[in-house]
Amino acid sequence: MLMKNNLKQTYSVDRFDREQMNTHKPCLIWFTGLSGSGKSTIANLLEKELYKKGIHTYSLDGDNLRRGLNKDLLFSKEDRIENLRRTAEVGKLFVDAGLVVLAAFISPYNKIREDIKTIVGSDYYIEVFVNTPLEVCEQRDVKGLYKRARSGEIKNFTGISSPFEVPVNPMIEIKTVQESPEEAVAKILTVLKNKL
Ligand code: PPS
Repeated sequence: MLMKNNLKQTYSVDRFDREQMNTHKPCLIWFTGLSGSGKSTIANLLEKELYKKGIHTYSLDGDNLRRGLNKDLLFSKEDRIENLRRTAEVGKLFVDAGLVVLAAFISPYNKIREDIKTIVGSDYYIEVFVNTPLEVCEQRDVKGLYKRARSGEIKNFTGISSPFEVPVNPMIEIKTVQESPEEAVAKILTVLKNKL
């Protein structure tokens, strides 16, 4: 049964107290893009650079969360929305804990990206669109998933049999065909300079 009569608990140490202890502010850096677009590669490289600067980070990745917290979810529209809602709530907790969170998820719908921003709070949300054309992702096919999706073995595959809505107004756009992962990271760090 759904419990609706719970009250919000307040804490004596809050986010702002924790921020004082860190040398930086928290935020959620949300990477969206097709499978194989390079989201995780860029997020990993960025995390390494942030770590070197002494910034406290944590990474959330679609493939990894789907092995644990979200292992009951598949790739229907409803399941993707629930996958991303839960992830946004986890991201919000980590942001509240004072971390810079890097989340790499296809997150294919504009509405869910808006909802994620609302969950975490617009001041803390940085959307990075890893813009790699479908043909390029399919040609790379690092995990061999596009081939399996084309043959019909994998259903509801993003870009093939399930939609990807191009982000309306991402804070940062990376065109991986023109920009190297290192250039992408430098671009993101420039934006973060004014945010953290
Ligand atoms: S979503 O749409 O945001 O809920 O997806 P996400 O949690 O990021 O999971 C994407 C990874 O799952 C693998 N995979 C699929 N992707 C898309 N469509 C289908 N049907 C599918 N089945 C499995 C794939 O490895 C994705 O990882 P990335 O890193 O994006 O390539």
